[in-house]
Amino acid sequence: MAIRVVREDGDEILRKKSRVVEVIDDKIRELLEDMVDTMHKYNGVGLSAVQVGILKRLVVIDLYDDKGPIKLVNPVIIKTKGEQEVEEGCLSFPNQYAKIIRPEEVIVEALDENGNPVKIKAKGLLAQAICHEVDHLEGILFVDNMIPGTLQYVEPNTDK
Ligand code: NI
Repeated sequence: MAIRVVREDGDEILRKKSRVVEVIDDKIRELLEDMVDTMHKYNGVGLSAVQVGILKRLVVIDLYDDKGPIKLVNPVIIKTKGEQEVEEGCLSFPNQYAKIIRPEEVIVEALDENGNPVKIKAKGLLAQAICHEVDHLEGILFVDNMIPGTLQYVEPNTDK
């Protein structure tokens, strides 16, 4: 296990488009595992490979429920439905949150870490997280689509 450095706002790599993963090998599986460790370390619900400086279409998500960490290779959102207004943050924007409109439901197709096709129908927070992470693969950040004037800086809790 390894914690990777998270690239933050202002790092130009976050604006680049990630490349399709052609071969899912041990190196990719190790990267996915490191991404999960890094996401957990910073209490995130999602992380894309570009955020640790690697332009590959890899995403991890964890809502800390019984679905466990989800690892997606080459995710593509094939359908969206409805809308939800939600609060959103990003590990590349520490302590910043904004309101944004996301689809209420999405269907995403991807490969898992063994190269098997997966199809996930997601609602609510999971749909939001999938949209946020897939945006990263295109170099799109949540502040690009936030509801104007809703960006807030929240002081980190330093009690612990
Ligand atoms: Ni993000």
